[in-house]
Amino acid sequence: MTFRYLGSKSRLIDQIVDHMPPPKDGAFFVDAFCGTGVVAEAAAKLGWNVRINDNLYSAVISAGARLISKKQAAFKRLGGYESAVYRLNNAPPKKGFIWREYSPASYDFCGIERRYFTETNAARIDAMRDLIAEWRDSGSIDELEERLLIADLFGALNRVANIAGTFGCFLSKWTTQSQGEIAVRCRELKEKTVRVEAVVGDVFDVPNRSQDVVYLDPPYTKRQYASYYHILETLAIGDRPEVEGVAGLRPWKELASDFCYKTRALKALSNLVNSLKAEKILLSYSSEGHISMPDMKVELSKAGKSTMYPLGSIGRYRPNKVASETASEVSEFLVVVERVKEREADFRPKKSISADGLVGSFA
Ligand SMILES: C[S@@+](CC[C@H](N)C(=O)[O-])C[C@H]1O[C@@H](n2cnc3c(N)ncnc32)[C@H](O)[C@@H]1O
Repeated sequence: MTFRYLGSKSRLIDQIVDHMPPPKDGAFFVDAFCGTGVVAEAAAKLGWNVRINDNLYSAVISAGARLISKKQAAFKRLGGYESAVYRLNNAPPKKGFIWREYSPASYDFCGIERRYFTETNAARIDAMRDLIAEWRDSGSIDELEERLLIADLFGALNRVANIAGTFGCFLSKWTTQSQGEIAVRCRELKEKTVRVEAVVGDVFDVPNRSQDVVYLDPPYTKRQYASYYHILETLAIGDRPEVEGVAGLRPWKELASDFCYKTRALKALSNLVNSLKAEKILLSYSSEGHISMPDMKVELSKAGKSTMYPLGSIGRYRPNKVASETASEVSEFLVVVERVKEREADFRPKKSISADGLVGSFA
């Protein structure tokens, strides 16, 4: 099986786009749990400035790479993008951290034979990651070019990883793909440069203003992304952490998400929605997630007018039906929350209607 990103909206993107408002001057589409960045990419295509945020550095790198334009990734000092990728693919293998921890070589170091990558591929990943770091340190590439190459390296290693979709564990038997030779490929870069702000951090700290649209796609199961994508995170950061257990996990608990706990998810969502300044919020969720639809409805109605739209096959054929009518069949849905504008909120009766029927005055 090949790599997959849990909860990616690539399958549903066309239907999510149907609910995106047109871009506003100076405002941002904030993809606050950006993951792969497929939603931010679609918003950018509509003409939005985008802000991508995730608490995983690897996710922000992957999402950001989707938005890079030809002009931004000229690789002038290396003779162009293709030449940089050619050099990466030809870097002599190095027995480094990935080889030591995530290939069968690990047996000699920790007594566990980890089969994420063949020894040859692992040593080539080490060589490529080191070369990217060298280029960055010497000024041969800038930060955007560095991020693009790291994202391209993710693509290459995902094609040869011996996993069942995520890096939560490796397979005991080698797959055919994992025996292939790792190779980085150039991606199609964007023609136009988009204004992108990339933030690595907790969703509660993501900058947003009233005119922005915030898209929320929180985790909805107990699967913690920081542990499921630990190897990508290590490559993104470029460190050499103490790893442990059969899977060789880097320390990840600091990045554990409240949205992955059934007992905390509803409160976390409610606090998050109430802390945002944006007047329009789009929220993706699943009817199989920790938060039940009735509970979510109650919480979101406190924040403003909310409408639920079923997505997937049901949504495609009956786009205007609210999810509540079809809840038993729906699995993915999108909630559009429109907050009461502050001006309107201030527009409340200064005095309430009195018992004798006198209407109170308005500000
Ligand atoms: C369902 S995935 C998003 C998928 C994304 N929309 C896509 O289409 O690829 C949820 C994302 O939220 C991130 N995440 C979880 N808790 C977070 C938090 N507290 N702050 C920021 N990001 C968080 C995870 O790392 C993961 O990338």
